[in-house]
Amino acid sequence: MKNLVEIALVDTHTHLYLKEFDADRTDMMNRALEAGVVKFFLPNVDSRVIDEMLSLESAFPGQVHAMMGLHPCSVKDDYQQELEIVKNWLEKRPFCAIGEIGIDLFWDKTTLDIQIDAFRKQIALAKAHDLPIIIHSRDSTELILDILKDERDERLRGILHCFTGTIEQAASAFSMGFYLGIGGVVTFKNAGLDKVVSELPLDWLVLETDSPYLAPMPYRGKRNESAYVRIVAEKVAALKSLDLKAVANATTNNSKNIFDKISWAYTTLS
Ligand code: NI
Repeated sequence: MKNLVEIALVDTHTHLYLKEFDADRTDMMNRALEAGVVKFFLPNVDSRVIDEMLSLESAFPGQVHAMMGLHPCSVKDDYQQELEIVKNWLEKRPFCAIGEIGIDLFWDKTTLDIQIDAFRKQIALAKAHDLPIIIHSRDSTELILDILKDERDERLRGILHCFTGTIEQAASAFSMGFYLGIGGVVTFKNAGLDKVVSELPLDWLVLETDSPYLAPMPYRGKRNESAYVRIVAEKVAALKSLDLKAVANATTNNSKNIFDKISWAYTTLS
């Protein structure tokens, strides 16, 4: 995993602040830095994890960047209060994005109406603060694209995180200012994402792990960590017959386009 070729990778979606990393967070960060990861973007989930997320950000200034938002799986009866907390934090200090937000119909369909309401309210917050949005969609890609069409304007932009859709859906998202977040699923046999990614222009893609979830092969089913974003980059390079550096350069540039409110000064370990 050592960064023998000097490359700069970005993990655009990683939950490094969760308890799964409590025992070895510093080692895990060092492995990621050695693998060439120069930036880590932390999506929020809900008010229960904000303190841990912000303390990880302060422990790695300039490398780890926090988002603010309410995850669709945390949209429950108290979601208006949760949105109030999101709103207050956005007024209190800068964040790199609003996330993760969206619609999840895999775990709970009964909350669809309030998930849509929370999603639209957070899109409005993103427009008001001129921030990108990081979208979680599960069993809901068409619905998400419909809402984006409706909300579309020159400020709306972001990432469709954990993209697993079709080439047509990717094209539609990109035309509305959204990059596709590619993670461990691209290494799974029979997921079909490898075929889709081999057809997508590199200009549309950013890389992510979604740690601790969705570890790539050969770690599938185990804890994921940010160092493995390099495995994702290698897989994308193989699918497109490119070298790793070309994939790193393009996806890191795309990440810069999206996260346009932070400083991109970084140094690579080599
Ligand atoms: Ni996530």
